[in-house]
Amino acid sequence: DGLQDLHGLHVVVSAGPTREYLDPVRFISNPSSGKMGFAVAARARARGARVTLVSGPVNLEVPPGVQFVPVESALEMRDAMLAASESADMVVMTAAVADYRAARPAGEKQAKGSEALTVELTPNPDILAELGSNKGERVLVGFAMETHAGVERAAHKARRKNADFILLNYPTREGTGFGGDDNEVTLVRASGESEVWPRLRKTEVAERLLSEALTLHKYTRSV
Ligand code: PMT
Repeated sequence: DGLQDLHGLHVVVSAGPTREYLDPVRFISNPSSGKMGFAVAARARARGARVTLVSGPVNLEVPPGVQFVPVESALEMRDAMLAASESADMVVMTAAVADYRAARPAGEKQAKGSEALTVELTPNPDILAELGSNKGERVLVGFAMETHAGVERAAHKARRKNADFILLNYPTREGTGFGGDDNEVTLVRASGESEVWPRLRKTEVAERLLSEALTLHKYTRSV
């Protein structure tokens, strides 16, 4: 790769799903494959950045030269992201963080019974919002999965979480979003301005995302 335009920058990326254990053998999770986040990490590294990749359980090879921090739960991901982000210039949250975890995970495997089972869930911390509340000069990028009112909801998320922009994608478009090699995203700024990108390989979405983040980074540094 030629272009080293991210040289000297530290890029921190989250990827994959989280697992929220109900007991030692059962968990709540989602279908994130990690492909989107690994693509961002690989392209950032290829463009000369120092890269930290914090990922939930996935079946992908860690891109060469990337510092890898494996995690399982949202709480572990939060700790790893807050620690890595202290020295970051750009933080990209592609991870599909579980919104809830078991309020009281069982220490031992729970036996099956014939009665209905109620499990109490408690909300997980919002990692992107926490990063946004202590943003400093970092460029902060989020993703959003929405089934309806996408742009409006994504703009609201960007404002609430203090992200510079959010890439909105949809769970319903075959070959994109969870698990696919392609993604079809709309860039949504906190202002509500939006830009529809064509269907692209996740690698290409990563390239464009990084270029957009770099533009914002240069702007922040020059004012
Ligand atoms: O991994 P792949 O198979 O390649 O799929 C990629 C993807 C579909 C997972 C990815 O493109 C994507 O959309 N990731 C975000 C999915 C999501 O959780 O969206 P959300 O709308 O629930 O969250 C909005 C933002 O807040 C996200 O940046 C998320 O990382 C962040 N968040 C959410 C909840 C939480 N507790 N903490 C967070 O930081």
